[in-house]
Amino acid sequence: MKNVVELLLNWYQENKRDLPWRKDKDPYHIWISEIMLQQTRIEAVITYYERFMKRLPSIQDLSLISEDELLKLWEGLGYYSRARNLKKAASIIMEQYSGTFPNTFQKIITLPGIGEYTAGAISSICFKEKEVSVDGNVMRVYLRVEDKDLDINDLKTKKMIGEKIKKILPKESGDFNQAIMELGETICIPNGTPKCNICPLINHCKAKKNHRESCIPRKTKKKEKEEEFYTVFLLKYKDFFAIQKRENGLLTNMWEFPNKKGKLSKKEIEEIFSKNCEKAISSTHIFTHKKWIMDSYLIEVKNQLEEYTWLSLNEIEQSYAIPTAFKPFLNYLKIKYPQ
Ligand code: ADE
Ligand code: SF4
Repeated sequence: MKNVVELLLNWYQENKRDLPWRKDKDPYHIWISEIMLQQTRIEAVITYYERFMKRLPSIQDLSLISEDELLKLWEGLGYYSRARNLKKAASIIMEQYSGTFPNTFQKIITLPGIGEYTAGAISSICFKEKEVSVDGNVMRVYLRVEDKDLDINDLKTKKMIGEKIKKILPKESGDFNQAIMELGETICIPNGTPKCNICPLINHCKAKKNHRESCIPRKTKKKEKEEEFYTVFLLKYKDFFAIQKRENGLLTNMWEFPNKKGKLSKKEIEEIFSKNCEKAISSTHIFTHKKWIMDSYLIEVKNQLEEYTWLSLNEIEQSYAIPTAFKPFLNYLKIKYPQ
């Protein structure tokens, strides 16, 4: 395995991508990038990261931003509890650590939204601690190199891989952790055929030797996502449209078009709002565990119903955090009513 470590470190030195959070080892920068990178592709993260740092250059700025503005900055990235936890953690850093990011794994992991993976990444990259950072990429590379047909979703597998990697971790722990992740993202890829012909580990890889690189990791059957139907009301009064803030559940504190669970008929909708009602677009949105199937209706009303917030389409777009699930309806209205 010693060879593998050196090959990986050399490969990383030569091939690492030039990413905005790699300009320095400021733990604030690494923290924000690692949180954004969970569940989101690198290409998508770059623009979000740059806009975030422009608006919030310091931990203090993050601790002081309103939740509404923070959610707007995070709009489209999904998993919005990540953003709320960032603000919570920033406040703790301001209060308990006088604004300086804590510098050990043990302290870092106590912050909200930070688990072993993120604490390992920050403490190894920024503070040279001998900590591992095991994500899906790392597990896939490890299982292929060792030709091990283990379940990648089993926590025992993750724990075993963490322990094995800790034993071979060089003093350049941060570079090593990033090297495996990056190899997994760019060469030893999850979907499609891994690019073994340009992989630095090709002569050490047991799966490649046994022609099993495409069978590992073993595919586990995905649980069917639960389907939920919604009827979405695009309520229009003059040039204003109704939105409301989600109070709880998925997407708490994000803004949405009013809606009701289930498939309502046109007649039922007319009874609630107005006869001036027409079917608009349908859209589906897939979350981690759920699939929303949404029908929408455009409804002209005669007064601004009090329970909603009434805004022009421009105002909604510029200042309110609309989750991706509801974006198609906003886009539909923007095309129908150009401003
Ligand atoms: N993916 C998530 N974090 C990463 C990092 N620090 N380097 C490379 N790929 C990553
Ligand atoms: Fe992955 Fe192929 Fe490299 Fe093995 S040789 S680590 S399967 S890319």
